[in-house]
Order: sequence, then structure tokens, then C-alpha cells
Amino acid sequence: MLTSHWSLLTLRILVTRRDWLIFVRTNVCVFICCHNSLHTWKIRKMRFLIVSMALLPIITWATLPPPEGSYNILFLLPYTTRSHRILHMSLATALADRGHKITMLTNQIPSDNHPNISEFTHNIKETDIDAVNAFEYYEAPEKFLILFRETYNALGKGLYQIQEVKELYEKRKEFDLIVVDSILNDVVYPFVHEMPFITITGLGAEEMHSAVMGNVLNPSYTVALTVDFTIPMTLIQRAINILESIKFAFFFRKWLCIPELQAEISKQFPNLPRLEELERNVSLSLLNTHYSMDTTQPLLPSQIEVGCMHCQPRRPLPQDLAQWIEEAEHGVIYFNLGSVTQGAFLTDEYRNIFLKTFAKMKQRIIWKFEKNLEGCPDNVLIRKWLPQQDILAHPKVKVFITHGGLLSSQETIYHSTPVIPIPVFLDQPKVAAKMQKSGFGIVLKLKELTVPLLVETLNEVISNPKYAQAISQASHLLHDQKETPIDRAVWWTEYVIRHQGAPSLRCPGADLSWIEYLCLDILFLAHLVVFTFFWAAKNFLAIAWRVNMKEKKE
Ligand SMILES: *[C@@H]1O[C@H](CO)[C@@H](O)[C@H](O)[C@H]1NC(C)=O
Ligand SMILES: *[C@@H]1O[C@H](CO)[C@@H](O)[C@H](O)[C@H]1NC(C)=O
Repeated sequence: MLTSHWSLLTLRILVTRRDWLIFVRTNVCVFICCHNSLHTWKIRKMRFLIVSMALLPIITWATLPPPEGSYNILFLLPYTTRSHRILHMSLATALADRGHKITMLTNQIPSDNHPNISEFTHNIKETDIDAVNAFEYYEAPEKFLILFRETYNALGKGLYQIQEVKELYEKRKEFDLIVVDSILNDVVYPFVHEMPFITITGLGAEEMHSAVMGNVLNPSYTVALTVDFTIPMTLIQRAINILESIKFAFFFRKWLCIPELQAEISKQFPNLPRLEELERNVSLSLLNTHYSMDTTQPLLPSQIEVGCMHCQPRRPLPQDLAQWIEEAEHGVIYFNLGSVTQGAFLTDEYRNIFLKTFAKMKQRIIWKFEKNLEGCPDNVLIRKWLPQQDILAHPKVKVFITHGGLLSSQETIYHSTPVIPIPVFLDQPKVAAKMQKSGFGIVLKLKELTVPLLVETLNEVISNPKYAQAISQASHLLHDQKETPIDRAVWWTEYVIRHQGAPSLRCPGADLSWIEYLCLDILFLAHLVVFTFFWAAKNFLAIAWRVNMKEKKE
């Protein structure tokens, strides 16, 4: 009986995924009650019922311990995409719900009406990444660096000229903590001077920021952002991987984006340390990864995996959508290319391939598309915006055609829906390749897309149970954590505030130069010693030889 109640509770904990401490506490209570004081089955059952009922409120409602006070937290996200915003908002909302006051600087339109969050949107139009036609970058990823460079210049020149930003900068010391998105937001680092700050890294354990924190990720098994290799890599792949990661970092940090921004910032803030010095003082980084989905790698205590912190259990769908899905006799195909890769930018050629394919399918299709579509088959439902997670969570949804963005890939694993990724740019080919390797679906290349290929792939992924099995296993692994990722993120955020920047978390590696970090000075010294020894030995022998010959002659 004990075991069955135990598993029941475990199940409950897993379903609600509450604090593990409560789990232990509850089990200990149940254990003591069941074992020590109870003798007959009847009493045991009664007691158990009473104990369980008394404990249930604790299990259901207690999460983190209450915060020590209400903190003032500043989120600086002047350059982000609509999808990364979901990530930021999940943390901001969780903190605001705990009574902290959140101030947010962003390029996105305010969306949340939370009384404890106040948002300010700057209007520097170069930061509107959602207006960019990502398909233009499909074959030329280098063009992205040019785009980033232009945006960096615009931000550097414009951001601190805005009156509200100036005011925010003046009163920055009133905040208890600053939260920065570490991807493409270097322009805000003047804010963090002499302030505790943490970063959110939307692209997972991104190599450049990790190196700044003193953890150089090993390129022999961590795949660079811009290549689509899976692990294990071959010799050639490893060589390319190393070159790619150096190339990207060099262009970004040493040549194109940062140096120009640095020049602009130095002009406006002549007394501040360099941006990279300021970035190096980061207390903690919340990484959008989890080892169950991504590469398992050594991380610092200050690198916290919070992958899927934006994921939520299934909520009810709006009435019309729910009905459309429920009435689909053969299930539903969900098609969404994400916020940056907008469907509206798809060329007619590809749009027709999708329309013709969908007309041949017996399933119903839900397609996120930003414009009206003519000639749409009856089995296709078009919407500008969709509650993606709740759709993916519906058991009738059989497959997700995605662009392979990191957030979408996490949501689909969380809700256990097989995929057909059609990657477009940046890290999408890498994420897509990883999903195929894990058995969650089949990757298609945009360039090779045809109607028969798409029909065949859809039928395969829908009818072959192995994809659903693989992803549900991964989902199970992802859910099996001692606390939810969002609780973990909140706990560590408050931890940094409680300990004034938590300097004990800091890795000494962050303060070494790259020559010291790689022990190049020691290697140099060792070579010098060996060289000196041989040089001395050679000269000594030569002299000895000459003396010897001289003596012989005499
Ligand atoms: C906002 O913060 C206050 C305390 O500062 C708290 O009492 C209140 O519950 C918070 N509001 C919401 C909606 O969580
Ligand atoms: C580095 O961060 C700590 C708190 O985390 C802060 O007290 C200190 O002033 C910061 N140093 C610089 C140079 O910004």
C-alpha cells in the first residue's frame, strides 16, 4: 500500500512539478504515519486519507519560499525578437507575481498588463527584426553580420539620446538588479557599471558569452551556432566547427559589430571601462538549454540551465480552434515558421507547394500566416496568431512543421509532438539536425521542397509511431526535474540580489587573459628552457670538440 501511495504522490509531484523539498517532506510524513502509528488496514486507510487531505494544499500551492522583500529589477532588452520576448516575459511575470517591481526597456510593443511590470518601448526602427525578410538570408548567413552591424550602429548612436533612456540611466543605481539579454544587446553595458547584473541567453549556452564568464566550451563536441553538424563530428567537421566558431566570434567581436559600437559608446561615456570589461562582471547567466535536449557540457555554478522556462502545461483552447481540432477525424498538422521567418515572406513558389500538399492530405491543417491567402483548401485554417503551446499539447495534433527555432523546438519536446523542421537561417539548421538525430522527425531543405516529397514526409511522420515514441521519451526526461525551470530561474535571480551580486559564484578563469587561460606563457617558457638547454649543450660540445682536436694536433 505504501508503495502505491508513494507512487501516487510521486505522480502528483511530477504532474504539478513542485518543489522537491515538499516532495521529500510529504513522503517522510506519509512514511511515518503509515509505519509507526498505524496497525490495521482500516485505520491506515482512514489516516492516510486524512493525512493526504491535510497535505494536499501544501503540495498543490507551495512553490518557492516567499521572497524576503520586494525588489526593483531592470530588464534591458533593446534588441530582441518577438519570440525571445516570450522568454523574457516568462521570467519578468514570475518575478512580478512574487511582488517585485519590474521596469523594462525593449523594442517590442508593450503586451502585458501586469500591475508590477512597467515597459518602455524605444522606437529605433533598425531594431525591428520582425520586419526583416529572413528568407533572404537563407543562402547567405554572412549577411546577418551586416544587418547586426547596422543595428548596432543605430543603437549606439540613438539609444542614449532618448530622454526616457537618459532618465533611466541616471537612476539606474536605484535598482537591485539588472537583467540583460546577452544576445546582441551589448549597447546596454554602460548601465551595468558598478551594478550587479545577470544575463538571459536565449540561444542556449552561447560560446562567446560563456567564454567571457570563464568557461570556454570545447569545440571538439559543442557545435558552433552556424553549422548543422550532429555529435559525434568527423575530423573534417570538427575542423570546420572550430573555424566557424572562431570566424563568427572574430567578425562579431573584433572586427564588425563591437568595435564600432565601442567607439560610439566611448565617445558618449569617456570614463567608462570597455564594454567587454563591463560584460565580464556578470554575476550569473540563465541559459535557455537543458541537458536532456541539448549537448551535455561542463557548466559553471553561475551558468544555470532554465530551458523551457516559458513552457506551460496545456490550457483550454479558444472555442473555435478547439472545435476545429476536435472535429478533425484524421488529426491535425500544425504549420508555423516562427516570428522572424514570417510565412508572409514565403515566395509564391513555396506557398504553392504547401497549398498543393495540404489539398492532398486527409488531415486538417492549422497554418500561422500573416496575410489573407487565396485558393486555400477547405481543410486549412489560417490565423495571424495562434496559442502555439496549447495547440502542440492537443493529442489530435500529429505533427508540427516548424522552422526549427530553439523555442519552438523546446515547446514541441515539452508537449511531445513530432516535427518536420524546414530550417531557414542562423541556428535553425543546427537545431533541426539535432531533432532529426534524436528521432523526433525528418528535416526538409527549403531548396529541395516538392509536393510529393512533402506529402511522403508528412505521411511517414504521422503514420510511423517511432517519431512520437522518441519525442515522448525525451519529453518525459525533460519533465523529470526537481523543480520547474521557471522556479529555478526565479530562485537564482533572487539569490544574486540577496548576495549583492554573489561574487563567490565568479570563476577566476574570467579574469585571466587568453594567454594565461590557455597556459601559452608556460608553454613558451617550457620551450625556452628546452631550447636554451640544447643551445648550451651544442655550444659546449662544439667547444669541447675544438679543444680536443687542438690537443690532438699538438
Ligand atoms: C505586485 O506587487 C505587490 C507587492 O509589491 C504584491 O502584493 C502584488 O500581489 C503584486 N501583484 C500581482 C498581480 O502579483
Ligand atoms: C561588479 O559587480 C559587483 C556586484 O556584482 C559590483 O559591486 C561592482 O561594482 C561591479 N564592478 C564594476 C567595475 O562594474
